[in-house]
Amino acid sequence: MMKTNNNTPAAVQIAVIGLGTVGGGAITVLCQNSDVIAARALPIRVKRVVDLDAQRAAGLCEKLNLPQSIISSRWQDAVEDPEIDVIVEVIGGVTVARDLISAALKAGKSVVTANKDLMAAHGGELLQMAADHHVDLFFEASVAGGIPVIQAVKESLAGNRFSQIMGILNGTTNYILTMMCEKGADFAQALSEAQALGFAEADPTNDVEGYDAARKIAILASIAYNSRVSDSMVATEGISQISKWDIAYADEFGYVIKSIGLARFDGEMIDVRVHPAMIKKGHPLASVRDSYNAVFVTGDAVENAMFYGRGAGSLPTGSAIAGDVIAAARNIAHGSRNRWGCTCYQQLPIRPLADVVSKYYVRIQVYDRVGVFAAMAKVLGDCQVSMDSVMQKRRIDAEQTEIVVITHKVRHENLVKALNALTDLDCVVKVNNYIRVEDEDI
Ligand code: HSE
Repeated sequence: MMKTNNNTPAAVQIAVIGLGTVGGGAITVLCQNSDVIAARALPIRVKRVVDLDAQRAAGLCEKLNLPQSIISSRWQDAVEDPEIDVIVEVIGGVTVARDLISAALKAGKSVVTANKDLMAAHGGELLQMAADHHVDLFFEASVAGGIPVIQAVKESLAGNRFSQIMGILNGTTNYILTMMCEKGADFAQALSEAQALGFAEADPTNDVEGYDAARKIAILASIAYNSRVSDSMVATEGISQISKWDIAYADEFGYVIKSIGLARFDGEMIDVRVHPAMIKKGHPLASVRDSYNAVFVTGDAVENAMFYGRGAGSLPTGSAIAGDVIAAARNIAHGSRNRWGCTCYQQLPIRPLADVVSKYYVRIQVYDRVGVFAAMAKVLGDCQVSMDSVMQKRRIDAEQTEIVVITHKVRHENLVKALNALTDLDCVVKVNNYIRVEDEDI
């Protein structure tokens, strides 16, 4: 930290490692708003930037009036510099990022990261390291981009017991589902449009199959339930099986389909999952459109609170990183680092997916003949699946039609048994899809 003549901190010096979309956004926010940041907290000076792409680094420094001399291609130049107080890690991935964050923490530097993959897989180990070295490790940007939800759950809402956190945590899938819902697009069309507009990557697997959201809900569940939840513990299903028929039927029944990350605690176990769900049109999450994210938190004191905003993007994510840098800088200036270390003080069990109870929508393609409903009802009854309603929907051709069943709440294991038994019936062509219905009133 730089000192003034009277030995009070004049500026906290930082290094930003990784100058891609997120790193570029973070530096831009810190430089362009340096006057308000200095006035509100204290001056923050970018002393080092690190990137393997020298041209990209030079362009960014020129744009922000930063000297070219601060550019390096080695992260060690930042971590080994005794004058640097805070390291911002925005290179992503779990190998080099883990090495450099570990080295920075051990060198007594606070770290700010946007790295959800790393925090979801190795957050416990890194937070312990931060505590051991009495420094901060902040990661607000790792969940829902610019939305300040980690800080909210960790600090502002710390007086609550949380019964549920339910979020739209992935902008790509929300964009695709919004296009399917509002424009009648099918999944493939909506995905290509999202790719053309830069909302989806060339390989969309991480987003579309729910892995990105699984990491985010793992982080939120760990904080809310003070229990280490890693992404491998999250039951995860993507949206690629959703068809325009599911969207249309959901609409008829008063629902919209969203990809949600959900963490619940029932007093015994944590139920944590990511999957498409039908939610009532009146639920606040139903109106979250396009690539926006939102997190709906239910606590025993606050009741319901929703956090809404940009879940990705250079400046929104940069905003979250800047907030963490300012918090880390303040803690350094006030000698109060690691006020909040790892929040996981217990290890609650995760409820196995087989035991999770939900209401389901099931879309089944059948031969249109006498006795189909009766045969299906028997199979469902034998598997302890109780029907709430059953409807014959569109005709597929002269012989085949589609039936939609809405169940009462059933164990997932029973539902799977019932779907397998239905598939074995002669009158059933195939089970086209099943989707959970989250229709609790709020
Ligand atoms: N790919 C993510 C999304 C943003 O689509 O929301 C970064 O986590």
